[in-house]
Amino acid sequence: MKIAIGADHGGFHLKELIRLLVADELRHEVQDMGCYSTAPVNYPDLTRLVCEKVDNGTVDRGILICGTGLGMSMAANRYDHVRAALCHDHYTARMSREHNNANVLCLGERVIGSGVAEDIVRTWLAVEFSGGRHQDRIELYSKC
Ligand code: RB5
Repeated sequence: MKIAIGADHGGFHLKELIRLLVADELRHEVQDMGCYSTAPVNYPDLTRLVCEKVDNGTVDRGILICGTGLGMSMAANRYDHVRAALCHDHYTARMSREHNNANVLCLGERVIGSGVAEDIVRTWLAVEFSGGRHQDRIELYSKC
């Protein structure tokens, strides 16, 4: 898959780990949208760089990492074709794919350890959407 990845300063170190996992080990095509250091940046700006690509179909998936994952997930879900899920464990990662067909994964570097984060990413990239009644429910999002 083509995957855009982005972080603010609060997620920079974890982004570096996740980029290597997704590109070098899992062999996906990764577009690193920044940031590129721990210098402070505004997380909505990095959210936009990733979510515009998911929204217009330039990439298949996005991964966003900030301190908590909260701000980026809130900003990401403002895009029409983005279904962003903030995941803290294997179960939420699996269910965000099976039931919600999440196309953007949000992580909080200050919340979870790197091992849990890698487990979440492996699961989230491997699990397929279940479809059926879950697709019917996703179509109701636009009526919310
Ligand atoms: C930055 O300090 C922090 O607010 C940001 O990384 C994120 O946690 C926002 O939701």
